[in-house]
Amino acid sequence: MTTTIDREFFERHAGSAERAAEAREIFPSGVTHDVRYFDPFGLFIDRAVGPRKWDIDGNELIDYVMGHGALLFGHSHPYLVEAVQQQVARGTHLGGSNDYESQWAQAIRRLLPSAEKVRFTSSGTEATMMAVRLARAYTGRDRLLRLRNHFHGWNDSVMVGGRTSAGAIGDSGLSRAIGGTIGVFDQTDLAGIGEALATREFAAMILEPTGYSWGTCPLPPEVPQQLRALTEQAGTLLIFDEVVTGFRITRGGAQERLGVRPDLTTLAKIAAGGLPGGAVVGRADLLDQIAFDAGAARVAHPGTFNANPLSAAAGARMLTAVAEEDPVDVAAEQARRLTRGLNDALRDAEAPGAAFADASLVHIVLGPDLPRPDDGVTWRWDSVGGAQASLPPTPSEIAWPFRRAMANHGVDLMGMGAIVSCVHTDADIDATINAFTASLSDLRREELL
Ligand SMILES: Cc1ncc(COP(=O)(O)O)c(C=O)c1O
Repeated sequence: MTTTIDREFFERHAGSAERAAEAREIFPSGVTHDVRYFDPFGLFIDRAVGPRKWDIDGNELIDYVMGHGALLFGHSHPYLVEAVQQQVARGTHLGGSNDYESQWAQAIRRLLPSAEKVRFTSSGTEATMMAVRLARAYTGRDRLLRLRNHFHGWNDSVMVGGRTSAGAIGDSGLSRAIGGTIGVFDQTDLAGIGEALATREFAAMILEPTGYSWGTCPLPPEVPQQLRALTEQAGTLLIFDEVVTGFRITRGGAQERLGVRPDLTTLAKIAAGGLPGGAVVGRADLLDQIAFDAGAARVAHPGTFNANPLSAAAGARMLTAVAEEDPVDVAAEQARRLTRGLNDALRDAEAPGAAFADASLVHIVLGPDLPRPDDGVTWRWDSVGGAQASLPPTPSEIAWPFRRAMANHGVDLMGMGAIVSCVHTDADIDATINAFTASLSDLRREELL
């Protein structure tokens, strides 16, 4: 049965529907990233500035995808435009070292004290692949310990047991040999993890330090803190995947707030200022395995676009702004305002569900009857009887119509979440809360919630 939500979605987005049909002829499912898949078709975006974007049908949207989390300063911030424009005219690949890559690395080190040394990659996926490789080389061990549902990119070394907002990741096409070396544990199973680490078989343990899918299921801070001690005892290296949380949870990432110094950290997204890029950073003795005087144990690392000057210029400029201005706090404050408003709307509509936020990352669950946060913002495990390995997700028969309804009302979400930037204004947040209230009432009218 076609709902009024669907009818409006088709009517408002006729141009996107047409383009999507053409795109399906050339791209699998018509999209170029799993998370961009949208039922029944995704919106084709024409341009974006600040917190907003416009689709090809001329609809204006408040954007909470924010470059999959890369855009702490919103779209096309003047700092970024200037830095990239200047550099593009001076060369996009200089075939040699350049000042920007050093400035970029210094900017990272200024914010992240655990980054004794830095190696740039072209993406977060490459960063986690290299981090695991450095750990194997250093320890002489083959195995990786990881947490169920945590996502670390799409390389074989880390993918088994992962999840994205598009759903759980299967193992089709992944090397069984590598998969067999990976131990997957629930994110709160400290006993199981402790036992596994005690075998001293694991080169490294990797995790998203605030919980899987950028905190969709929050991880109590004691867990990464205890994992630091457990990994140290076992001679296993601790890798914090801060591709999303880096320069967002605090200026110094989740590690600063947790007071945990990982051996290695993987970075991307905000780190590259809005352009493609990533980095593996951490202990100098680990990174120096890439050095040419490392002898037979040397870890090779080519990569045509490592530290390319456009990403380096963007990363250096935007991380300098992270250090010298207050985008992290401003974005977090706007996320708190948004989350409080979403919870108020849920309460007023007497709708089952909750919203919660960690810094500028907002999560929404609709359908399951979860307690709403006491302060309107912060998830509290004790309100559901203690930390659990997973939170019930929004069922897809609610999630898709909800996301279509939000798009009809001018808001584009990142899955069932919102990634807030420092340029989302109070007016944007209020408009988003109104769109949410209207979407809840659409869902109610259709008896979907
Ligand atoms: C926590 C985490 N690690 C790694 C990655 C992979 O980064 P990239 O998409 O740059 O390869 C992602 C991407 O979303 C991520 O969220």
